[in-house]
Amino acid sequence: MKLRQVTSSAPGKVILIGEHFVVEREPAIALAIDKRVYVTVRKGVKGVRIHSSCYEGEVDLDLNEVEGVKGYFRAIFNSLAEYREIPPLEITIRSEIPPRYGMGSSAATAVALTRAVAAFLGMELDKEEIAKIAYEAERMVHGSPSGIDNTVSTYGGAIIFRRGEGFLRLNVDFSPVALLVAYSGVPKCTKDLVSKVKELKGRYPTIFEPLYHTAGRLAIEAARALEEGDFTAVGELMNINQGLLSALGVSTLRLETLVHKFREAGALGAKLTGAGGGGCVLALVPRERVEKVLMAIKPYSEWIAQVEVCETGVKVEGEGV
Ligand code: MEV
Repeated sequence: MKLRQVTSSAPGKVILIGEHFVVEREPAIALAIDKRVYVTVRKGVKGVRIHSSCYEGEVDLDLNEVEGVKGYFRAIFNSLAEYREIPPLEITIRSEIPPRYGMGSSAATAVALTRAVAAFLGMELDKEEIAKIAYEAERMVHGSPSGIDNTVSTYGGAIIFRRGEGFLRLNVDFSPVALLVAYSGVPKCTKDLVSKVKELKGRYPTIFEPLYHTAGRLAIEAARALEEGDFTAVGELMNINQGLLSALGVSTLRLETLVHKFREAGALGAKLTGAGGGGCVLALVPRERVEKVLMAIKPYSEWIAQVEVCETGVKVEGEGV
């Protein structure tokens, strides 16, 4: 039976502890969130045509192009073409996560797209293969990503991740706390920030090595605190993490302002999340204080969201014949 269309989805993410440090193999904690990217695949007429709410217009894909957005899609289709010839396809992408907010929209797109195309073509791909294909796409836009984004988007939940080693699921009851995310008003560029950090670290290796080690300890300590439900400690560790990120040069005045407004308003902890240089601040807030904190932050951010941790990673939403 030939399928006429398949829709698949994958979650975005926030990094609770350890962005940037994770690129250099320190452990980090990521949470899949209840904001997803949905990808629908249908039979096309010629080549692969992509319609997306995130990109202007449409992308007509020539599988030989390597630059920018097209290079990113090309990486996915070239990987898939190793399993099966790619017929003409019509693809629609709808994202609940704005691009360049540091919430994993690109990884979630790659993961959901890989799953949807595989399902449409009747290919059996396990999660490990999906995460690997999505990683190849991430490499096209981010240079040398750690792999944390495509991993958490594929598997869902709360994870502690270490580059080259894999991840462990954390067993956390988030019911006492809420996660609030506020946009700084400036889009981030992961590739530039990662290379800026690398350059600074390269100039002062003896200073940065202990900082990286500390960041790794922070993630391990935070994982323990999360599993014990000690959110006061988690918040404090997030605040320490923000100090380290500031030392790496990826915080900005807008991010720092939001961080401090969140803390003043009663957050247990607040830090930038993702690559920094812009993007969002993440705050951990006791549920009973959410309204008060939201009111206090409103004047400082044009986009604020309350997100929940989502256990479901990539999934097929529906198939039609
Ligand atoms: C991930 O969202 C952000 C960085 O840690 C880059 C990476 O892990 O690849 C800055």
